[in-house]
Amino acid sequence: TYHNSQKIDYVFKIVLIGDSAVGKSQLLARFSRNEFSLDSKATIGVEFQTKTIVIDHKNVKAQIWDTAGQERYRAVTSAYYRGAVGAMLVYDITKRQSFDHIARWLEELRAHADDKIVIMLIGNKSDLDSHREVSSEDATEFAEREGLFFMETSALEATNVEPAFLTILTEIY
Ligand code: GTP
Ligand code: MG
Repeated sequence: TYHNSQKIDYVFKIVLIGDSAVGKSQLLARFSRNEFSLDSKATIGVEFQTKTIVIDHKNVKAQIWDTAGQERYRAVTSAYYRGAVGAMLVYDITKRQSFDHIARWLEELRAHADDKIVIMLIGNKSDLDSHREVSSEDATEFAEREGLFFMETSALEATNVEPAFLTILTEIY
């Protein structure tokens, strides 16, 4: 739903990063089209989706970029981060390794992105709580130490997906 007219007041570029198979593409599918697929294919190169939301009576168009977690399928790093005002750093709560790699993703982000970029740490697949390998406490502590926002989401169950994107967009705004 647009406010008043079709006029876009702001365009915000947000990038999704994190290991392969943590659910970046499905978080984007859920947010932009309210869709989810269990047999999601690994992303090759870069894809993006847009969604326009209203913040403070302004039409804000989120342009969300999604790339491959797998090194061999990744696009040129500097182009991916160029102009980004928000980043979602995604791990899978059932894969400890994907959380341990967050520090590396953060390093890459800080090396290539603008200093003022708003960063949100996302622990995805919260529906698989019985297979959890990363506690909310560990992630909260890491996020606080690094100055990141933090939320756990489930693209499958549509838990916290919209709130996560709205939080980052509102924060950018
Ligand atoms: P790359 O493109 O290789 O970087 O992976 P990705 O991070 O984009 O992962 P993708 O979204 O393709 O999801 C990988 C797998 O996890 C797929 O089988 C998804 O269906 C599944 N998945 C994604 N989100 C969730 C979730 O919230 N819960 C559960 N249970 N599975 C999920
Ligand atoms: Mg993907």
